[in-house]
Amino acid sequence: MSFTSSAPAKIILFGEHAVVYDKPAIAVPVSSLRATASAEESNIFQIIAKDLDRVFPIDIQSQVVDDALALTVHLVLQHLKLAPPPVSITIQSQIPLASGLGSGAAVSTALARALGKVLGHELSDFELNQIVYEVEKIHHGTPSGIDNTVIVYEKPIYFIRSKPIEIIDIAKAFPLVIADTGQQASTRISVGDVRKLYENTPNEIQLILDEIGQIVEQAREVIKTGALERLGPLMLRNHACLQQLTVSSSQLDHLVQVAIDAGALGAKLSGGGRGGNMIALATFDTINAIEAALHHAGAVRVFTTVVDKQQVG
Ligand code: MEV
Repeated sequence: MSFTSSAPAKIILFGEHAVVYDKPAIAVPVSSLRATASAEESNIFQIIAKDLDRVFPIDIQSQVVDDALALTVHLVLQHLKLAPPPVSITIQSQIPLASGLGSGAAVSTALARALGKVLGHELSDFELNQIVYEVEKIHHGTPSGIDNTVIVYEKPIYFIRSKPIEIIDIAKAFPLVIADTGQQASTRISVGDVRKLYENTPNEIQLILDEIGQIVEQAREVIKTGALERLGPLMLRNHACLQQLTVSSSQLDHLVQVAIDAGALGAKLSGGGRGGNMIALATFDTINAIEAALHHAGAVRVFTTVVDKQQVG
């Protein structure tokens, strides 16, 4: 008996942070970068998480479940009203940790999927999404739910908190160069800091959140119609708003400028910010130049994903 499940990384194209305050956001899966969970028969139930440097038989009887992997297992078993099966589940992830690419949600999704399969109950995307959202609270504190949703459904989404998900139809494919600053950053902290700003100066911050909301609406139309020349300026405007929310960093700003100088049509940080990854909109002719410039500028990992209809499915 052996079961393998996986889940992709994600990128937020527009609207991070504002989405926590009920503004819309757009996110796409990165299907080439994945977390995988493989289950094999074993004498005891255990999770082996090599990338996370941990091997542990999880104490699922414990009432205090404050570990993301343990909580994932706990919630799946509770949902299915079943006992832990005698399996060893090995987790591997190609997704860098704490870098805005959704590694936590992808690992939880892959683990929950594999455990459901082992128990003979393949969880629906709806069930999985609810479970992974609960686990995201450990990583983020007050998550909007966008990360788990784009990762579980593996489709480009236009997302508003607590509203039905809208899958976006992408009229024309576009390449995005993704560059990692190499600085790990906690989304929980950046989200918490924006919350403090909001509490201290609600009127000023509300204006920025409103502006981000308008950018996202315009970006949605551009993506749906394929008028991609308008997308780059929207990314730059969104990045400027995120700077005002204090979630950029000097390295992120530097990489954004480097990408623009190398021919990108637009660029911005993606995800929680303060480190992690930035994204740059390229054309198929400029990918190589932008990738090379970002490497040269000190990005620790640079790769390109093409956002297109193929990502749906
Ligand atoms: C993190 O990928 C996205 C944030 O908007 C947080 C959230 O939506 O939960 C920063």
